[in-house]
Amino acid sequence: MTAISDTAAAERKGLLRFLTCGSVDDGKSTLIGRLLYDTQLVLEDQLVALERDSRKHGTTGEDLDLALLVDGLQAEREQGITIDVAYRFFATPRRSFIVADTPGHEQYTRNMATGASNSQAAVILVDARKGVLTQTRRHSYICALLGIKHVVLAVNKIDLVEFSGERFHRIVADYLAFAAPLQFDSVGSIPLSARFGDNVIRRSERMGWYEGPTLIEQLESLEVGEELEHKPLRFPVQWVNRPNLDFRGFAGTVASGVVRPGDRLVVAASGRESAVQRIVTADGDLPEARAGDAITLTLRDEVDVARGDVLAHADARPEVVDQFAAEVLWMIEEPMLPGRSYLMRIGTRYVPARVTSLKHKTDVNTLEHIAAKTLGLNEIGLCNLSTTSPVVLDPYAENRATGAFVLIDRFTNATAGAGMIRFGLRRATNIHRQALLIDKAARTRLNGHRPAVLWFTGLSGSGKSTVANIVERELHALGVHTYMLDGDNVRHGLNRDLGFTDADRVENIRRVGEVARLFVDSGAIVLCSFISPFRAERRMVRELLEAGEFIEVFLDTPLDECKRRDPKGLYARALEGKIKNFTGIDSPYEPPEHAEVVLTPSPLGPQEEAQRVLEALRERQIIA
Ligand code: ADX
Repeated sequence: MTAISDTAAAERKGLLRFLTCGSVDDGKSTLIGRLLYDTQLVLEDQLVALERDSRKHGTTGEDLDLALLVDGLQAEREQGITIDVAYRFFATPRRSFIVADTPGHEQYTRNMATGASNSQAAVILVDARKGVLTQTRRHSYICALLGIKHVVLAVNKIDLVEFSGERFHRIVADYLAFAAPLQFDSVGSIPLSARFGDNVIRRSERMGWYEGPTLIEQLESLEVGEELEHKPLRFPVQWVNRPNLDFRGFAGTVASGVVRPGDRLVVAASGRESAVQRIVTADGDLPEARAGDAITLTLRDEVDVARGDVLAHADARPEVVDQFAAEVLWMIEEPMLPGRSYLMRIGTRYVPARVTSLKHKTDVNTLEHIAAKTLGLNEIGLCNLSTTSPVVLDPYAENRATGAFVLIDRFTNATAGAGMIRFGLRRATNIHRQALLIDKAARTRLNGHRPAVLWFTGLSGSGKSTVANIVERELHALGVHTYMLDGDNVRHGLNRDLGFTDADRVENIRRVGEVARLFVDSGAIVLCSFISPFRAERRMVRELLEAGEFIEVFLDTPLDECKRRDPKGLYARALEGKIKNFTGIDSPYEPPEHAEVVLTPSPLGPQEEAQRVLEALRERQIIA
C-alpha cells in the first residue's frame, strides 16, 4: 500500500461487502432501496470511492473492478448455473459498500450461500411484529457456516409496533440466546423503519430510548479485519510460463497473504524449497504482491512446480491431505450419494473426490443434526471426503480462499455442491503398501491370456447372468482363468448389508469394483453381472482398471420384454407395489453411451450373444 492510500484508509474504511437476509415481507427490498436512495446524496463520492477501492482491492489496475461485484463462486458462473444474487454498490463519505441481495425463500439456500461466500457481514432482517422466525435462524446458521463473523440484526417496521423499546429488547434477547453457539465476533441490533428511513441513514427522532448507532453507522464502523491479505501466503499456480530456456515463471493470482522477492517459499505438496527471485507483471516487476494480485513468480532454484501446485511460505504451510471433513451444501436436484465420484475443484486444481461418509445433515431451521444417507437440493451436511491424490488446503475458518471447494457432476458438469473444509484427516501413518515379488505381468505370462473385466449391465431379466454363464463356461473350456461376480450372489455375502436405494446401489458397485480389480490383478477374466443402473459407478469401475481392461457389455433388452420374461416374478411384485425402488419401475436405469458390446436379444438365443462377447475378447487379444 502506498503512503497516499494509507492516509486515505485512516479517514475512510475499506470496502465492506455485506449480505442482506430476510424475505420480501420483512422489508428487505425496501431497506436496500432506502440505503441506495439515501446515499445517492453523495453520488460523487461514490465514484471516487469505487475508483479507490478498485485500485486497492481489485485486480484490474486503473480500471474500475466490476469483478468486485460478482466474483463469489465463480465456477458456477463458468458452468452456466444462474444463481440469483444481485450485487449493488453504494458509498458514504466514510466507506464503500457492496451489498448482495439474495432471494429469501427456503429453496434458495444455495443462492444465499453464494451471496454469503464473499461477504464480510450480514444484515439479518426481522419484522418487529413477528420477531425471530425459523428463517431468521436459517439465515444466521448459513452465514456462520460461510464464515461471516459480523451480524447486524435489523428490527424493521418498528413504526408498526409504536416504536416500542420493550418489543425491540425482547427480540434482541431472543436472537442473542439463539445465536450464542454460532460464535459471531459481533452482533449489533438496531430498531429501524426502512419505509420511513428511521435509523437507516437518518437518526430517528421517534425512539428516544435508543442510543445506539444507525444502520449505516454500524456498517461504517465494523472492523472486519479478516482480509485475505492478512492470512498466510497461498499462491495456487495457474500455469507455468516458459517462453524460452532462460525464463521459467509461475503465473496465478495470490489467493491470500503477501509475497516479496527474497521470501523463502515451499511447494506445498512436495516440500521443495526455494526463494522468490522476481515478481513479474505486465507493468514491470513489483516489490510485493498481495491477495487478489495476478502475477508471475520466478524462483531462484530449479524446482518442480506444476499447474495446480500451491506455493506458501516455508514457515506457514497449508495442509496436504487426501482425506478431510467438510460441510457440504448440495446444489442440484440429484442427491449427493456417498461413494460416487465427483470432480472437486479447489483453487486451480481439479481432482476426483468422493464422500466416504455423511456424518449427519443439519436441519438449517433448528440446527439439529439428523442422521441421513444422502443430501438433497439445498441441504447441508458434515461429510468425510477422500480424493484420489493429495490436495493442498486450509480449514475454511482459517482461510476462506483455500478452505472452500466445489464438487462438479462428472457427466453434466454442473456445480453439484459447495464445501467448506473443517479439518484434514490423517491416515494411519503406519500402513504402507507392501512391495510384492509376483505381479500382474508375471501372472499373465503364466496364464497365457490377459486379465479383464467383462461388465454385464442391463435391467433385471435382460439376460446378464444367462449370457455371462455361457461365456464363463466357454472360457473355462479354453483353459482361461475366470471368476464370476453376480449381483444376486454377492448380495448374500459381501454386500448382505445393502438394499436398493440409490446410495446402497452406489456402494454395491464400489465394493464389487474393488473386488473385481483384485481378481484382475490375480490375472483372471472377471465376469461381473450387475444391473449397475448408474453411469457414474460403471465409469468409476472402468477408472479403477488399466486402459483396455474394462469391457462393458450392455444387455439392451427392452423393459417390456424383461417384464414379459420376469424370471423371478419380481416385476409382477414391483408393479403391485410390493417391492420398492425396482429398476425400470420406480427406480431409473441409465443406459451406457459407449459400451464395448451391445447385445439386443438374438433370435438365435443367448448362445449367439455369448459368441459376440468372446469375439470382443479375441479382437482385443485378451484371449488367443
Ligand atoms: S444393482 O442395482 O445394485 O446393480 P444388483 O445387480 O446387485 O443391483 O442386484 C439386482 C438383483 O437383485 C436383481 O436381479 C433382482 O433379482 C434383485 N432385486 C431385488 N430387489 C430389487 C430392486 N428393488 N431393484 C432391482 N433388483 C432387485
